[in-house]
Amino acid sequence: MHKQKSAIMAEVLEKVVEEARQGEVYAPFADDPNKFNKKFFIESYGCQMNFSDSEIVASILHGEGYGATRNFEEADLVLLNTCSIREKAESTIRHRLQTFKKIKESKPGILIGVLGCMAERLKAKFLEEERLVDIVVGPDAYRTLPGLINEAEGGQKSVNVLLSREETYADIAPVRLDSNGVTAFVSIMRGCNNMCTFCVVPFTRGRERSRDAESIVNECKDLFENGYREVTLLGQNVDSYYYSAPNEENVNFAMLLERVALVSPLLRVRFSTSHPKDITDDVLHTMAKYHNICKYIHLPVQSGNTRILQLMNRTYTREWYLSKIKRIREIMPDCAISTDVISGFCTETEEEHQDTLSLMELTRYDMAYMFSYSERPGTLAARRYTDDVPEEAKKRRLIEIIDLQQSHQVISFKNDIGKTFEVLIEATSKKSELDWSARNSQNKVVVFPKGNANLKKGDYTTVKVHAATSATLIGQMI
Ligand code: SAH
Ligand code: SF4
Ligand code: F3S
Repeated sequence: MHKQKSAIMAEVLEKVVEEARQGEVYAPFADDPNKFNKKFFIESYGCQMNFSDSEIVASILHGEGYGATRNFEEADLVLLNTCSIREKAESTIRHRLQTFKKIKESKPGILIGVLGCMAERLKAKFLEEERLVDIVVGPDAYRTLPGLINEAEGGQKSVNVLLSREETYADIAPVRLDSNGVTAFVSIMRGCNNMCTFCVVPFTRGRERSRDAESIVNECKDLFENGYREVTLLGQNVDSYYYSAPNEENVNFAMLLERVALVSPLLRVRFSTSHPKDITDDVLHTMAKYHNICKYIHLPVQSGNTRILQLMNRTYTREWYLSKIKRIREIMPDCAISTDVISGFCTETEEEHQDTLSLMELTRYDMAYMFSYSERPGTLAARRYTDDVPEEAKKRRLIEIIDLQQSHQVISFKNDIGKTFEVLIEATSKKSELDWSARNSQNKVVVFPKGNANLKKGDYTTVKVHAATSATLIGQMI
């Protein structure tokens, strides 16, 4: 009986995690209809980088007279910004495309475009597989969208999936879509050079390149002046950020973090994602030095077993990872840590899976994204190894991982009862008009009554926690 309940729980949790990671539907606000003569609708899937890219695309389309709409039925151009990270991510998108088939039948002039990682992976093949698609554009080719739309309007299918070694869209001011006006993503680099054997990203996003530091700082200043109070610096591997320009000082990630932190003490700074092999003491000391750099690190481990980590080409061992965690906690005892875990990678044995559980026991993550291994065509793992862990075992191991994480998370949140946190107000709580939803530095959601205090979104306040679930802290302003 208990087993059954926990299996159901695990499925629900996995669904939530999957949705949070790759299924979130994203429809922008309608713009002033008088300003634009055509309308586009865009939906993003996958990681935060994709959501951030959609804001670049929106900016490019604005320049072409396209305003955003939330209602795809009134759009002239429907875009899906896609993800290839797991098979399920791709099947969600194919399923979604079917919805647009009906619209295309009733409104043949409408153009359908596929952007992002799945476009890059499948290239022109997409046009054969999904006949309703008119435009296929990879992540480095968004500047060519206006020309591609033109071609498609002329009745020609159009494709540009060229990857670039330089493109960072540094000069394009993103149009903030569906924003809460308080928190924003800022892209600091693109691509990935790491070649983890399970991962499709190096193939869909190309070589790593860092964006001009000054343009990043300027974007953050601009956001702050427009009322934003938190930026998340984005990259597949932010710790390897390195920008060098002639006659200028070279900038590494620790230096960039400091420059962004100095924009204003009232601007919170977050970043994602860190690779355990690259996060330096310099970065940790910079985090500790500035109150406004949030005490939260997402440090994906993937597996707790050194042999599996080697097969994954993660380039660290179990012990090395654990020593990194120790270092983070020495330098910042109050820092929250989250992770990504994959169950059932090629040849993983039961004992090796137990190593993942024991590493989680030692680390006690505050949050985790957990997946079962999904072989991706073209990756090193697909070419070199056999995907030989039976689906049943992968799922069962995933459930064990999720159950353990759930129990740790309950403790992590319960341990905060009685503590006082400075929080940034993001929105009215979804559950009650009378409550604020805010976040503490450790990235935990804190809900508390608005009361009579004259506060608004984007304000900081201090809250004492008196109750907790496994995902929310509940408190009272003090
Ligand atoms: N650059 C980030 C990860 C991007 S992908 C990093 O290195 O952390 C996000 C997560 O998806 C990964 O950390 C991994 O846990 C998971 N993932 C990637 N490829 C996967 C695959 N083929 N099967 C299952 N999970 C995968
Ligand atoms: Fe993929 Fe590894 Fe690069 Fe992350 S670091 S994007 S997991 S190849
Ligand atoms: Fe998905 Fe591409 Fe991001 S594969 S996770 S959208 S980089």
